[in-house]
Amino acid sequence: MAEEEKVVQYFSRDFEWEELRDEVERNPKFSYHLSSFSPSLSSPSPVDADADAWRNFHRRHSTGTFFKERRYLLKEFPELIVFDGSIRVLEVGCGNGSTALPILRAKQNIIVYACDCSQDALDKTVEMIATSNFPSISHRFYPFLHDFSANRFPNWFLCSACKKCPHKKDFIFTPDANGEGLIRINEPAACCIGGIDYVTLIFTLSAVPFQRMSYILAELLTVLKPGGLLLFRDYGLFDMTMLRFRPEQRVGFREYMRSDGTLSYFFSLDIVRNLFLGAGFIELELEYCCVISVNRRSGKKMQRVWVHGKFQKPTVGTS
Ligand SMILES: C[S@@+](CC[C@H](N)C(=O)[O-])C[C@H]1O[C@@H](n2cnc3c(N)ncnc32)[C@H](O)[C@@H]1O
Repeated sequence: MAEEEKVVQYFSRDFEWEELRDEVERNPKFSYHLSSFSPSLSSPSPVDADADAWRNFHRRHSTGTFFKERRYLLKEFPELIVFDGSIRVLEVGCGNGSTALPILRAKQNIIVYACDCSQDALDKTVEMIATSNFPSISHRFYPFLHDFSANRFPNWFLCSACKKCPHKKDFIFTPDANGEGLIRINEPAACCIGGIDYVTLIFTLSAVPFQRMSYILAELLTVLKPGGLLLFRDYGLFDMTMLRFRPEQRVGFREYMRSDGTLSYFFSLDIVRNLFLGAGFIELELEYCCVISVNRRSGKKMQRVWVHGKFQKPTVGTS
């Protein structure tokens, strides 16, 4: 069977998100998740957490037991299979390679660049790929160490015209009307033509401080080709894991810190839309995926909520 024919429509609507929202809003035990956030003197600052906590996380879990190949990815994002010629993908925050590996396996003519702030994570990904018993994928995989919440992407992603115009990345941000994020108020210079066909941002944006998200998305816009796509999947508002956080783990509105210092943000569709459109993307798809998963041991049902999104870099205007 041709690879294209294997692509099936992928729906994940085991329950209605609005019904879950109503349940959470009616239940007093969840009220602290809904209230506005005012930091106390003892609350940790999410901006201080960031990359170091993830480096420590990967150092502690260097056996890679957290690795779980995301086989559903190609169903969610069939454009990674259905294309002519060759493509370049940038996997942002690649962890142990759960997203990079299925993409590399999908077709011979896909090149994957993958960054993470943790060298341990990159080493593990290289090992996973080398031992995957799939022919000719190692030479199509380019890992690199990069803290994207504090640094710009390397110049070698850009076309030669962009390299000659260093000012092209000089964005200016201002707080949005709600004070919840930043919006870009200037256009990048017209010479920018980044070279990546697809950026994958899979459970990575939620791992950085909310205040850094606008900056990161604006950076990702610059590395994409005009017309290129950013493929997004991340934690959705009222996901079971959000409702399990205790009040003292809140470090912002819908933002939590695990005991190991890593962050987790839970996205509503409105916030995702504001962040991406504010950075200059066009929205193609945006929805909640609501899936019931069952704990094999206890038989307990869990309501999982993820956000699925596809965003495009405009072909004219911001390029
Ligand atoms: C939840 S994991 C997602 C991994 C992968 N995308 C996947 O599909 O499984 C988030 C990853 O983002 C990385 N990360 C977090 N903050 C980062 C930063 N500032 N710069 C680079 N990587 C970062 C972490 O090290 C971690 O590997």
